[in-house]
Amino acid sequence: MTAVPPGGTTDADADAAPATDDAALRLRHLNEVAGLLWPAPASAGFDVRGEVISEYLLVLGARRPRLLIPARHPRAAAAAVRRYAEPGVVTQRLALRGLSTALRTGLGAGAPWPRFRVCLDGAPGGPEVATIETYLRGALAPGGADTADDDDLVLSMSIGPARANRKPVLQVLTRYGRTVGFAKIGVNELTRTLAAAEADSLRTVAAAAPRHLIVPSVLHQGRWNGLEILALSPLPIWLPRARHSTARLRAAMLEVAEIGGVTTAPLRDSRYWADLGRRLRSLGTDDTAGALREAYARISERAGDAPLRYGSWHGDWTPWNMATLRDTLLVWDWERFGGGVPVGFDAVHYTFQDAVVRGGSDPAVAVTRTLDDAVPLLAPFGVTSHESAAARLTALLYFIDIAARYVADRQAEAGARLGRPREWLLPVLAAQVERLHFG
Ligand SMILES: Nc1ncnc2c1ncn2[C@@H]1O[C@H](COP(=O)(O)OP(=O)(O)O)[C@@H](O)[C@H]1O
Ligand SMILES: [Mg+2]
Repeated sequence: MTAVPPGGTTDADADAAPATDDAALRLRHLNEVAGLLWPAPASAGFDVRGEVISEYLLVLGARRPRLLIPARHPRAAAAAVRRYAEPGVVTQRLALRGLSTALRTGLGAGAPWPRFRVCLDGAPGGPEVATIETYLRGALAPGGADTADDDDLVLSMSIGPARANRKPVLQVLTRYGRTVGFAKIGVNELTRTLAAAEADSLRTVAAAAPRHLIVPSVLHQGRWNGLEILALSPLPIWLPRARHSTARLRAAMLEVAEIGGVTTAPLRDSRYWADLGRRLRSLGTDDTAGALREAYARISERAGDAPLRYGSWHGDWTPWNMATLRDTLLVWDWERFGGGVPVGFDAVHYTFQDAVVRGGSDPAVAVTRTLDDAVPLLAPFGVTSHESAAARLTALLYFIDIAARYVADRQAEAGARLGRPREWLLPVLAAQVERLHFG
């Protein structure tokens, strides 16, 4: 197994430039999870030998690795590419769209991309060995003979950017290109916990029967080879998109906030405040943890009596975890769903992450701007009913909360974009806390 596929220069846009760190990190991740998804006696990689039991193409090549697609099933490969959606630059989206068409019309067969093979050691024709393919076929094969289309499920796997909660996400397709589900695979303590939490969250949200959004349903939850496996129904992300509507987004977020009920309490007396204090105390002793705890203590003095409303939140509601359709919103990635947070957190998160990740804003600047915009941002949630200061307080609490999450998850070590709150929050935090005024 090698991290770097041979023939990296066959990439469509290959030039003399060396592979980027980003590409190297994505391939390293693929290499790490390959041993878990295809355990012995199978082996998987770009240079493995033996009887080939499945074969994938690396799209868009070694310099921009994004996706493994089934090499021998062009219709499934075309569908996998079309339904792949990482937040990315427009040129990449266009390249993928063109690629999907090429694959559908059979041009993929001679594709120059590196081939990732799953092989069996030993004599051909032995009993079927356990791999992620055989596991998911067993878990998702339709009970009862549906149509001939439904046998022989194949996989596509996205290869995401570096972050602590990165995990394999597999698209499960029929060989004719119908998407049967998405499987999220917890591969370490953090991601196993998140996958299990997402299953619970999706059941909670489904039970609330929201009207403004659609969420995936849980098709299967299981453990295999030390992995936590969560298979979800596919949301129809291929339907035509409608224009983004802030009003519809806020209505959906408010509906989520009300799942489990909304309570009101002065900040200092709330369960939220006690939980946040506990989380901050467990963060260790470095500068970031110290600064967050200092901000916490100071907020208690300045705004501890502020009455806030508490409800549920998605926990990672961003433009790349949703799609706007004409009559509903599709919202996925519920692994951080939780209750009892200041109402409006989802709106703050969405605005900030969008500004930084899609808008390319400097994160420290985006923090200040988001705080300055907190009143209109949170008005649809009724946050201003007491005082406009409550909106600023809610946004500030969000930033401390998300920074605590990133530190606890060791996002800095994983190389995540916003993984070092020391760089983007601490420079403005203390001054922003001093701007809070109540009473
Ligand atoms: N149920 C689903 N329906 C449609 N697409 C999905 C579904 N689940 C995941 N995806 C696709 O896979 C990507 C990664 O899944 P996501 O749940 O966002 O995982 P992560 O936690 O790794 O961000 C999504 O951005 C989306 O493109
Ligand atoms: Mg996601």
